[in-house]
Amino acid sequence: MARIKEVRDERNPGEELTVNGWVRTRRDSKQGFAFIELNDGSCLGNLQIVVDQDTKGFAESTKEISTGAALTITGTLKESPGKGQRVELHASELKVLGTADPETFPLQKKRHSFEYLREIAHLRPRSNTFSAIARVRNAASAAIHNFFQERHFLYVHTPIITTSDCEGAGQMFRVTTLDLARLAGIQTEIDYSQDFFGKAASLTVSGQLEAEIYATSTGPCYTFGPTFRAENSNTTRHLAEFWMVEPEIPFFDLNDNMQLAQDFIKHVISHVLETCAEDMEFFNLRIEKTVLETLQHIVDHDFERVSYTDAVEILTSSKKKKWEFPVEWGHDLQSEHERFLTEEHFKKPIILFDYPRSIKPFYMRCNEDGKTVRAMDVLVPRIGEIIGGSQREERLDVLEARMKECDLDPEEYWWYLDLRRYGTVPHAGFGLGFERLIQLLTGMQNIRDCIPFPRTPKNAEF
Ligand code: 4AD
Ligand code: MG
Repeated sequence: MARIKEVRDERNPGEELTVNGWVRTRRDSKQGFAFIELNDGSCLGNLQIVVDQDTKGFAESTKEISTGAALTITGTLKESPGKGQRVELHASELKVLGTADPETFPLQKKRHSFEYLREIAHLRPRSNTFSAIARVRNAASAAIHNFFQERHFLYVHTPIITTSDCEGAGQMFRVTTLDLARLAGIQTEIDYSQDFFGKAASLTVSGQLEAEIYATSTGPCYTFGPTFRAENSNTTRHLAEFWMVEPEIPFFDLNDNMQLAQDFIKHVISHVLETCAEDMEFFNLRIEKTVLETLQHIVDHDFERVSYTDAVEILTSSKKKKWEFPVEWGHDLQSEHERFLTEEHFKKPIILFDYPRSIKPFYMRCNEDGKTVRAMDVLVPRIGEIIGGSQREERLDVLEARMKECDLDPEEYWWYLDLRRYGTVPHAGFGLGFERLIQLLTGMQNIRDCIPFPRTPKNAEF
């Protein structure tokens, strides 16, 4: 059996082979031929199958060969006289494995809206756009591991269930055993109605705090896994469940961190441009006509480093703009401000650093000015914030004071404080929102289309 990508790219006329796949279209000629466009998800392109009355199995199953049906076909490859393909398969034998009733099959030949496709998340990977996104996600994941593995970073598996709120923002989904215990009719002395075996546990918002444990033991490390945020935001940039890549590096300061973030993003983009050329052409043609140009520009230029204070200055002195949300030192930047800075002012990715401490989490290292922390956000055109990170506060007394300021109980973070009590070192790290990276790579407008099964306030079915 051969995958269609291999047949299209590597196999030669004269070879006999078998392919499996799903019918995209079927066209019948007056002379009794049929042309079937077959796709198996290995690449964007279909394999053209030429079927005639001599093809074994064709006559008896001809009614069943419709869009969406699954076939297995054996035949001989021939040079294709048609445009857009090097070879086509002349079928000697054809078998229908699974039919798809044209009356009810939800994916017809026409272009469907992304909203409609979201409702059929179980079938949307059979469309061009969503199979291409799946391949880009796969290539980007491989590039992420390559980048860190080449630099000898350790891949650490941090927990999903946790009792600490890393970001201190109270946006955690609570884990409870209540329903399971009740459904199973378990009689127990443990008060399951409380929480996770009597403790208040939640789904993690970030693997950072645990990554810090390994960074300060075994050296540079990274996590890459699902994270959860109970923010009820219905935007095109937020998911309740998303994947995050979080490197953490001992003996790093904020400048080292910024350099790593830039190298990392460039590496992943270059790898995807190289290994997914056909899919990337498709996104450029059909989804966002500037996507290739934007990505190449990102790879070819350094990111601009701008302090938060300077960014506020740029935004407030910009005469051209009427902001929906006013800009004021001490407030978080809104999407409109981020887009202005990246798309209109600098026209490239920027790294904003030294944010006001009042709007950033407890673990960021305080600056000497008493007002700012060593935070950094990487903003990119069209998306805005794609990375959030910082140098960490490694001084025990400062960290304890900062926790109290943030209304956190240092007792609950005793193990985190131990890292400062015993052999503390300067260290830094960041988190990249993987689906926002996929938005950047593909040009897709909505983050819900950048993850196979989006979890949003309204959607958790499958
Ligand atoms: O800026 P955030 O909240 O940073 C952290 O969680 C740090 N603990 C990371 C670290 O330093 N190790 O989140 C990091 C990134 C954001 O820049 C954004 O790209 C993405 O995660 N992100 C989301 N992506 C999709 N949906 C959401 N609800 C997201 N919230 C954050
Ligand atoms: Mg952030």
